[in-house]
Amino acid sequence: MGLDLTIVAKVLITGGTGLIGSRLGKQLLSRGYEVVVLSRTKSAESPVKTCFWNPSKSKIPAEALDSVDFIIHLAGAGLADKRWTSARKREIVDSRVLPAGLLFEAIKERNIKPGAVISASGIAYYGTITSEKIFEEGDAAASDFLGSTCFRWEQAIDRFESLGIRTVKLRTAVVLSSPGGALPKMLLPLRLGFGSALGSGRQYLPWIHVDDLCAIYLKAIEDNEMRGAYNAVAPEHISYRHLINQAAKLQNKKLWFPDVPAWLLRLLLGEMSGMLLKGSRVSSSKIQAAGFDFAYPALSTALHQLFMTRK
Ligand SMILES: NC(=O)c1ccc[n+]([C@@H]2O[C@H](COP(=O)([O-])OP(=O)(O)OC[C@H]3O[C@@H](n4cnc5c(N)ncnc54)[C@H](OP(=O)(O)O)[C@@H]3O)[C@@H](O)[C@H]2O)c1
Repeated sequence: MGLDLTIVAKVLITGGTGLIGSRLGKQLLSRGYEVVVLSRTKSAESPVKTCFWNPSKSKIPAEALDSVDFIIHLAGAGLADKRWTSARKREIVDSRVLPAGLLFEAIKERNIKPGAVISASGIAYYGTITSEKIFEEGDAAASDFLGSTCFRWEQAIDRFESLGIRTVKLRTAVVLSSPGGALPKMLLPLRLGFGSALGSGRQYLPWIHVDDLCAIYLKAIEDNEMRGAYNAVAPEHISYRHLINQAAKLQNKKLWFPDVPAWLLRLLLGEMSGMLLKGSRVSSSKIQAAGFDFAYPALSTALHQLFMTRK
């Protein structure tokens, strides 16, 4: 089941300059892997080898694909970076689906057979809703914008199976990291002294510590039995209010401002506000049954570690 790592394997990461990819790249290097990142920026500063690509136009540079053993697809336009106009929505979908197609065609044309293609996906697959259901991998994709984006993204990855290549799709929860990512943004009001919850605060907030997520990617590389979709989410189910309360407690801050009303967020952010105002629980059972042990199963220990490393 395990891979013989006396032979160093080459891992190609699209979007490897981002939050997850840069951390994962360093961890792979430290374990003896060769890492190549595909980036749209020629001057991308990175300790790993970076190849330039223009996923919407050009082909993939040959040196990136030469002798590649694993492909990790993380590239995609940031969901929260800009207001969701119809052009931006198209970019969010295309920036994930088109590069996957480009990789598929390149691999097929060159008759390359990597050990696995592993891709990010999101827990938004199950829908931007608040409900009491605990979603599992067998549940259907939602028909809202993010649900259908994740569905099309995963479909583009499933195509590699037709070439006999193992595929893994990691339906990722909100990644807690420091610095960067969603956590500092979610805790900014707290830092400025007026911490409060968003909307009702009762919406669930599936989350995962960045190091646990990187460890799941590593497992997906090394464990040949992993195949298909897995929720990459910590076992502890929390609400948005619980996150704010825990963070306030660990930082000795008082919560005294009223909650930010949902209507105000809708006005400011439009459709994108659903990502903050809605949330359901997502099960971690499948990845745990596959033998994965979370280093940070509980929010309190994850936050404690992140706050300690920030200092
Ligand atoms: N972080 C989370 O909480 C979270 C949760 C669920 C799912 N995910 C998914 O996991 C993947 C990686 O997440 P991340 O947090 O590392 O994202 P990130 O920090 O935004 O990095 C994504 C990378 O994708 C590339 N990219 C950006 N816009 C692009 C575009 N229009 N076309 C092609 N490439 C583009 C960029 O690399 P270059 O500029 O170097 O090309 C960027 O570094 C993303 O697809 C994200 O949706 C993340």
